[in-house]
Amino acid sequence: MSLSERGERVMMANYPPRQLGLVRGEGCWVWDEAGNRHLDLIAGIAVVTLGHGHPAPTRALVEQSAVLDHVSNLYWTEPAIALAERLCALAGMQRAFFCNSGAEANEAAIKLMRRHGHETGGAAKHRIVCLEGAFHGRTLGALQATWARPKKIPFEPLPAGFEHVPRDDPDALAAAIGPDTAGVLIEPIQGEGGVHVVPDAVLRAAREACDRHDALLVFDEVQTGIGRTGEWFAFQRTDVRPDAVALAKGLGSGLPIGALLSRELATGFQPGDHGTTYGGSPGITAGALAVLDAVEAEGLVANAQAMGERLERGLRALPGVVDVRGAGLLRAVELAAGDAAGVASALHGEGVLVNAVTESALRIAPPLVIDGDQVDLAVAALARVLAARG
Ligand SMILES: Cc1ncc(COP(=O)(O)O)c(C=O)c1O
Repeated sequence: MSLSERGERVMMANYPPRQLGLVRGEGCWVWDEAGNRHLDLIAGIAVVTLGHGHPAPTRALVEQSAVLDHVSNLYWTEPAIALAERLCALAGMQRAFFCNSGAEANEAAIKLMRRHGHETGGAAKHRIVCLEGAFHGRTLGALQATWARPKKIPFEPLPAGFEHVPRDDPDALAAAIGPDTAGVLIEPIQGEGGVHVVPDAVLRAAREACDRHDALLVFDEVQTGIGRTGEWFAFQRTDVRPDAVALAKGLGSGLPIGALLSRELATGFQPGDHGTTYGGSPGITAGALAVLDAVEAEGLVANAQAMGERLERGLRALPGVVDVRGAGLLRAVELAAGDAAGVASALHGEGVLVNAVTESALRIAPPLVIDGDQVDLAVAALARVLAARG
């Protein structure tokens, strides 16, 4: 029986049908159960920073686990503190909280904003402003911060006090932020919404209005963080500094970790406010530290910038491509003919895995170790597919 037949019998039906069962990965390549090789331009949805099978994080995890595996947050442990120090230095932040996923990092962010609001303005200061097109995760708070209404309806009622404003309108955003706003949650580049770069003017308007009304500005960098956009963090592409940053995905390069970094806040979490059993466990944080080491040692932030530019140049030259959005190695290719799902499936036939992020756009988010030949191979495959479809 294939993985697909077995999976469809036993797994809950919460994911759309899967086309492939994968059994092995190395660098930017993965192999399916029939032995076919595919160029992986999805990377676990912007997760596998170092490529598949990189030895550093798993070695660090195994070595640390042999010394001290899990002891809970009743105790201090070296790897979590070292990771917090490192991330705070990279992001210009002062405090860290560790959890296990992107949604959890955003839940922590939502609670931090709410706590700040209660502390500075009482219970009325609880509103959280988000952008249309946003995706922040599937847990109830993160889902409510997410834009797409159809994803929410079966789970209502969701937490109150969230509102969404247009992505490209600084005035609308500034007008939505007032004395009862606890915080603003923004992806500097929206990932799941179709890889849309939020204009600097919107980020600046958010910063100014948050300062005016003593609200927290939080950037969700779950998808954009850890070098993906050609900077360690996408906000470093702008002149806007947030009060807190949510991370996950690329931080573990496949190990389950999320993080919320914040500047020093008088209204930050107090003992008992928040927590999670596994957050910051020694093995996983040692693995994440090894990811950061490898990103630095292998020059992957610069590689993401260089390969992203090469990819953009190649894609823009293709007939049938009307736009290329994003930065570094987080890109969307807008197709003149739409039917992104059909094009993704034809590319799959060419041995290249991409994801149809909207009806008319493909998302490309490969491991940050991708090289020039692999970028060119991907562009050539898309050229063949688009030419064949006329
Ligand atoms: C920007 C953003 N925030 C949050 C999440 C949720 O992360 P997770 O799936 O790890 O809960 C995602 C996942 O795609 C994301 O792209």
